[in-house]
Amino acid sequence: MEEKRPVWTSRYTFILAAIGSAVGLGNIWRFPYIMGQYGGAVFLLVYLLLIVTICFIPLFAELTVGKITKKECIGAFESVNPKFKILGFLNPLTGILISSFYFIVGGWIVYYIYISLTNVHIVNYSEYFSDFTQNSIPACICTLTFLFSCIYFTARGVKKGIEFANNVLMPLFAVIMIGLIIFSLQLPNAHLGLEYMFKPDFSKLDSQMFLAALGQALFTLSIGMGALLTYGSYISEDKSIAKTTYTIIFSDTIFALLSGIMIFPAIFSFGLEPNSGAGLVFVTLPHIFSQIPYGNVVSCAFFILLLAAAVTSGISILEVPVASISERLKMTRAKACYWVFLVIAAIAIPATLSFGALSEFKILNKSIFDFLDFSTSNVLMPLNAFFICIVAGWFLKIKGEMFIKNKYIAKLFDFGLKFAAPFVLLFLLIIGLN
Ligand code: PHE
Repeated sequence: MEEKRPVWTSRYTFILAAIGSAVGLGNIWRFPYIMGQYGGAVFLLVYLLLIVTICFIPLFAELTVGKITKKECIGAFESVNPKFKILGFLNPLTGILISSFYFIVGGWIVYYIYISLTNVHIVNYSEYFSDFTQNSIPACICTLTFLFSCIYFTARGVKKGIEFANNVLMPLFAVIMIGLIIFSLQLPNAHLGLEYMFKPDFSKLDSQMFLAALGQALFTLSIGMGALLTYGSYISEDKSIAKTTYTIIFSDTIFALLSGIMIFPAIFSFGLEPNSGAGLVFVTLPHIFSQIPYGNVVSCAFFILLLAAAVTSGISILEVPVASISERLKMTRAKACYWVFLVIAAIAIPATLSFGALSEFKILNKSIFDFLDFSTSNVLMPLNAFFICIVAGWFLKIKGEMFIKNKYIAKLFDFGLKFAAPFVLLFLLIIGLN
């Protein structure tokens, strides 16, 4: 049975959902640890520079292609040229692969909420974290719980599920974040964390940092897997995509900065190092929480914050394959969700086990989890972002003058869409493959 194509209730709910998609683990889990690994403030500068010069272009292109074609990813590419169907297909594929590792991290959050609530006594956080990730059954249960929570909202549809989740979770997220920032800034020596974030040390600048910053920018802005294209295809009224693009970029960047302001002062206040990698949020922060009064309450608030952000992004990742399957195969949304759940679970379970039972199993010398992260962030997302710029600039012939009043800025945009952004993305892709 074919269902009617959904549309957003209002411009507000659309923007909130797009911000909900962008603001996620990328801001709170990935951004601080990547920034910590690449030397703080100078990374931030490079990251901001890349967002305002390059990354806003594929973001704009995705929303516009969605809005013009009013189709899910495969149909959108196909309607530009039937030969491009295969390019469209890469988007839901990327969505399935990203979700398989995104939902594992989501599962870790579920577990950390559980241990904060039950007030488990932990001596060594680093050992505790690796024991948990290696312990196959609880880790798989957590992955599936998180996946199920997101697919539940997706199955309820755009209005009752996606909009509802964003309307409730995004304000909750903002309130908890403000509370935690106030808490963090009042810790002794909090200013050291702020200096680390905002006082650049240019000796740390290197080419790897540019790659890491570009990869982070694509991931955090949800560019390169069709999530924004699909969300853009549900816009009914003739509203400015340019304004939406600025709003998403502005909000996502503010939330990334705020999560740094929430996390770094706490880390420096306790004399810890910010370069502990992916475990920053799951090892370093819980260690801090264990040393402060009402630590389990703060810990619980923090992981609920992370969960809220992860659910709204997770929903948008799922929406891409769900929309493609239901519209292409004329299947109900609920049935499409059921199939997407099964496929993602079939990949996410071995990926969860890659920390424990399947740790010996390697693809291209990487564990399943690392392979999924690498193949999506370094290969498929830049590739999809490259194709969307090419399709929008060269085939749909989107021009800056359609939405920018200043003639010169409009020309600069055209150059960015047709040449600069595709070139930089291709460059990232080639370097990332080496
Ligand atoms: N932007 C999301 C985050 O920061 C992740 C995401 C990637 C969502 C791609 C949708 C598409 O966590």
